[in-house]
Amino acid sequence: MKIAFIIGTRPEIIKMSPLIDEVDKRDIDYILIHTGQHYDQEMSDQFFLDLELPQPDYNIGVGSTTHGKQTAVMLEGIEKILQSERPDIVLVEGDTNAVMAGALAAAKMHISLGHVESGLRSYDKTMPEEINRIVADVCSSLFFVPTEESAVNLIFEGLNSHDIFITGNTVVDAVIRNLKIAKKRSSFSDIDLDEKFITLTLHRAENVDDEQRLVNITNALLEIKGVNIIFPVHPRTVKNLQKFGLYDNLDKAEHIKLIKPVGYLDFLLLLSNTQLVITDSGGIQEEAITLKIPCVTLRYNTERPETVHAGGNILVGTNKNLIIDTVNRIISDEELYLKMSQAINPYGDGKTSEKILDIILNAYKQDDLTIKSPDNIEGLEGRYLQRIEDDLDVRGYERENPHLRIIMVFEDNRTIFPHEHLNLKNKMFVVEKFNSNSID
Ligand code: UD1
Ligand code: UDP
Repeated sequence: MKIAFIIGTRPEIIKMSPLIDEVDKRDIDYILIHTGQHYDQEMSDQFFLDLELPQPDYNIGVGSTTHGKQTAVMLEGIEKILQSERPDIVLVEGDTNAVMAGALAAAKMHISLGHVESGLRSYDKTMPEEINRIVADVCSSLFFVPTEESAVNLIFEGLNSHDIFITGNTVVDAVIRNLKIAKKRSSFSDIDLDEKFITLTLHRAENVDDEQRLVNITNALLEIKGVNIIFPVHPRTVKNLQKFGLYDNLDKAEHIKLIKPVGYLDFLLLLSNTQLVITDSGGIQEEAITLKIPCVTLRYNTERPETVHAGGNILVGTNKNLIIDTVNRIISDEELYLKMSQAINPYGDGKTSEKILDIILNAYKQDDLTIKSPDNIEGLEGRYLQRIEDDLDVRGYERENPHLRIIMVFEDNRTIFPHEHLNLKNKMFVVEKFNSNSID
């Protein structure tokens, strides 16, 4: 059994690290492929040090360029490596260009693909990440989704529920494991963690490449007074703040501290001590709710709606007044602050990597990682609504009706995932039937 991990950027290194640890622990053969999309010491190497990861076996060294070229170079490089290494499964995490390139390379070579953090949808196709997620999910064989909501997104797209596993998010594993280490090892000489402060991160293309949005956000930050803001600035954002002539204003503001991106241990220390976080990051929305820190998200939509529904995250877009008012309200309204910081973490118990690996090993043992073409399907006959009045669970129903597969179930006007032990009595559900040309 051999696993190929593909990583390319800061969040992938962080979220893949608990899985790499788990594979190491179980002594499973693996290779680590870095596409080199992130390459600065503080965007890549620092995370290998902090997370005690082995050096990658391969680094494609793609660097920064246009989406098309970056994807093409990664695709070519990954294909070559997979040809010589022939892993049993390729694992990608999240929604970057590295994920799309890895997914395409594996699928075209008929190598099983496991998508970690599958099923997220912002329903905003202007985001490069949304295209990457959808392409990765089209190419995947095993879908490791963090929550029931993300599982339902996939069944709406017609994916087979038998291949979808609700595992939580490895970000929780990473936070739990590394927070203890961070508290012992990490420290800042120039930031007083006992003082009240806000942490800010900002890097989404749709925010920082857009001058008006970046101006709005900058003005909001300049007008939030009475609390210090610590801002580790992503290299994309440094470039654009300078290009639009905004960097110096922020740098001169007494209450704003611009610093270079920090390592993971330092960031966990900042985040766990901050009063609240303002961000447009995906991973930080998840880490905030894990650490019980109120989150203000500088976006108009999110593929992490669970954090908003749980009450820990508020979307403010890039409207200057809304950013300022929301931040001030959270800081001054004790009841709201308490409610946000007590939001229940939807991303699992920190055992996501164990669960994912158990599923992969089980699939390997049952020869389910081999990609085969179906030899007895003439086409989809149709999808039908059903209702039963007996006590029967999803697994029992599918055993009794081997040509039918349950796609989705409705309960109290909600679509729910067809968990195998879900009792179907008096519920409406949709089944799918394929025409079979086998003689049985
Ligand atoms: C990428 C991902 C994004 C993810 C983010 C994590 C895509 C399409 N985007 O965005 O989903 O949230 O990583 O941080 O895959 N740069 C450096 N040094 C580096 C890396 C980048 O200076 O080590 C600068 C370059 O000027 C580059 C710019 O940052 O052009 C953007 O980098 P890129 O990797 O293209 O996108 P990110 O914004 O980092
Ligand atoms: N992070 C970090 N140092 C920083 C900023 C962020 O270690 O200065 C970590 C953070 O803890 C989270 C991840 O980087 O795990 C998020 O990455 P990013 O926001 O770049 O990408 P996204 O999650 O939006 O794809």
